[in-house]
Amino acid sequence: MASKKRDSWSSNFGFIMAAAGAAIGLGNIWRFPYICGENGGGAFLIVYLACVFLIGMPVLVGELLIGRKAGIGGAGAFSALIKKNKKLWGYVGLLGILAGFLITSYYTIIAGWTLEYLWQSFMGNVATMDAESSKNYFDTFMASNPRQIFWHVGFSIITIAIVSGGVSGGIEKVASILMPVLLFILVGLALFGLNLEASMQAAGSGIAKSIDFMFHPRWEQFTAESMFQALGQAAFSLSIAVGTMVAYGSYLKKNENIANLGAIVVVMDTMVGILGGLVIFPIVFAFGLDPEAGTGLIFVTLPNLFSQIPGGAVLAPLFYILLFFAALTSSISLLEPCVTHLVDAHKYKRIPATLVSGAAATVLGIFWIVSSSLEQTGLFTNIDKFISNLMVPTNAILIAIFVGWVLDKKMLRKELPKTSQLYFDIFIFLCKWVCPVVVTTILIRGI
Ligand code: PFF
Repeated sequence: MASKKRDSWSSNFGFIMAAAGAAIGLGNIWRFPYICGENGGGAFLIVYLACVFLIGMPVLVGELLIGRKAGIGGAGAFSALIKKNKKLWGYVGLLGILAGFLITSYYTIIAGWTLEYLWQSFMGNVATMDAESSKNYFDTFMASNPRQIFWHVGFSIITIAIVSGGVSGGIEKVASILMPVLLFILVGLALFGLNLEASMQAAGSGIAKSIDFMFHPRWEQFTAESMFQALGQAAFSLSIAVGTMVAYGSYLKKNENIANLGAIVVVMDTMVGILGGLVIFPIVFAFGLDPEAGTGLIFVTLPNLFSQIPGGAVLAPLFYILLFFAALTSSISLLEPCVTHLVDAHKYKRIPATLVSGAAATVLGIFWIVSSSLEQTGLFTNIDKFISNLMVPTNAILIAIFVGWVLDKKMLRKELPKTSQLYFDIFIFLCKWVCPVVVTTILIRGI
């Protein structure tokens, strides 16, 4: 099992920042607020929270537990904990790693866009765009393979460099600096946005519009598809079932309280999604824009707004730094499972393992860029849908079954010594029944 020299998180704070950094990403700041607004606001929020706490949290805690108990990440973690069907459950671990690897290959492309916009905002070019020029700018950028490849490769190199530095020396150090800065900027921007909306709305309407848009339940807009979206978003946002939490768990010390750590990460991730909405929507409503503007919102609509907002020249770089940090702590967590697997199962040294997996994901990303520009029937979009909506939830079901049905309960109880019996019983019940049944039902209805 674990080798003597195995790296570990040097503090609880470091682990929380790294795991929250994995969870908090582009998904929270842009995708969550937008799909929440589109699928019935508060109605979506209620179902999303149910998915997060009844499905996401048990799977997340289960994954941390598997990694920590096995003392290794990757496919080997699953087989190390059982006597029968080792190979079969090893494939479940591999499925997660494969999903994580594939997500890395395209997550770094979108992350590259944030670098392009960060660079342009530093050059003072973003806060001067009007509606037409920001649309033209985005379209020209999308049509330029060399520029997209440049930023994708640049972002991937930064990710590879950090992951090469190891768990405590690379990932933890970087996350411990970037996450507090990110939270600080986020809260600052949310306060600014709410204040702006309040000052620009007609007297009396105040900040109510954006808050209403996000929190007021509109059940008539909540469809079966919304249910599917809520589950997919919860899994994607918490970074479950992609090998990340198993790998991160394998670097946790034996005396850490996994239940508490998991809960902190889940709550932070959810709060940031809500804060993301409080940054975006007040700005959107203050200018009477369409909150359902789609993918272009942060790359097309917002640049135009920055040119009209007081202090836009400062806010634009701050906003894109926020996105860049969020994307970076997530992309390092996406690459790590593959690296941990190569180190633990194939005895690679960390640096070659990172270079091999990082280079492979980068090359695949270049393929997505080139193939989507050739307009090959939306390959890029389809692969994202296939992984996020099918592969990840399927793997989440299998992990819940592994924890709820296959793993020895006495062993599990010993891994959660500081939790009450009631917490433990609920945890097992959720893994055994709720996750498999609910996720399977949603998947069948959604396909
Ligand atoms: N949770 C990240 C986000 O919301 O953007 C995306 C992500 C990161 C998914 C890491 C999966 C993962 F392993």
